[in-house]
Amino acid sequence: MAVKVAVIYYSATGNVYKLAQAIEEGAREAGAETRLKKVRELAPDEAIKSNQGWHDHVMATQDVPEVELDDLEWADAYIFGTPTRYGNVSAQLKQFLDTTGGLWFQGKLADKVVGGFTSAQNANGGQESTLISMYNVFMHWGSIIVPTGYTSDEIFAAGGNPYGVSSTDPTDGSGPNEQELAAARYQGRRIADKARALTGSRV
Ligand SMILES: Cc1cc2nc3c(=O)[nH]c(=O)nc-3n(C[C@H](O)[C@H](O)[C@H](O)COP(=O)(O)O)c2cc1C
Repeated sequence: MAVKVAVIYYSATGNVYKLAQAIEEGAREAGAETRLKKVRELAPDEAIKSNQGWHDHVMATQDVPEVELDDLEWADAYIFGTPTRYGNVSAQLKQFLDTTGGLWFQGKLADKVVGGFTSAQNANGGQESTLISMYNVFMHWGSIIVPTGYTSDEIFAAGGNPYGVSSTDPTDGSGPNEQELAAARYQGRRIADKARALTGSRV
């Protein structure tokens, strides 16, 4: 049976979404069954409409399904993505993470492989602190965190972030570059491979 990988993300202006698509592609290349899900938008309409890129992205991704807690039960592995928000996880993704208390209490989140990815405007804009903040949650879940490390040339070529895949926003709407997308596909393959190796070892 194929290993099951859920790619769960929040994206306002599309950068994280493009990374999420590449990660899903990589997981599929590695033979995984995948689900690509967004978390619910929480920002008021006025805020979204005040930013053309944000508004366009919301409209363009209407058909991406919203994540449900069932997706976490279904998956053997998760990869979570968020834009960097002042060096931290976006409120939208955090809000979803904060709805997982029931599953956590039942032990249903433990022993699953997990990774994270992010995008920030600046090369040193807090990508690593965002990923570490996200990983705090996964430690509480008892997840098996699989960072990218320096395990492949794709990671070096994309800027060398060993904590997880990250991109630097080109701010012209073009999104992550080819090297960053290649690193994202690699992360998808890596998480799927490690999840396959560990599936069956869960208690
Ligand atoms: C409220 C807010 C806070 C942000 N904080 C940071 C930051 O700390 N460092 C940084 O480099 N970029 C920061 N950014 C920029 C975004 O992280 C960046 O544009 C990212 O690529 C957006 O991803 P998205 O297109 O998936 O929404 C911030 C943006 C907003 C709106």
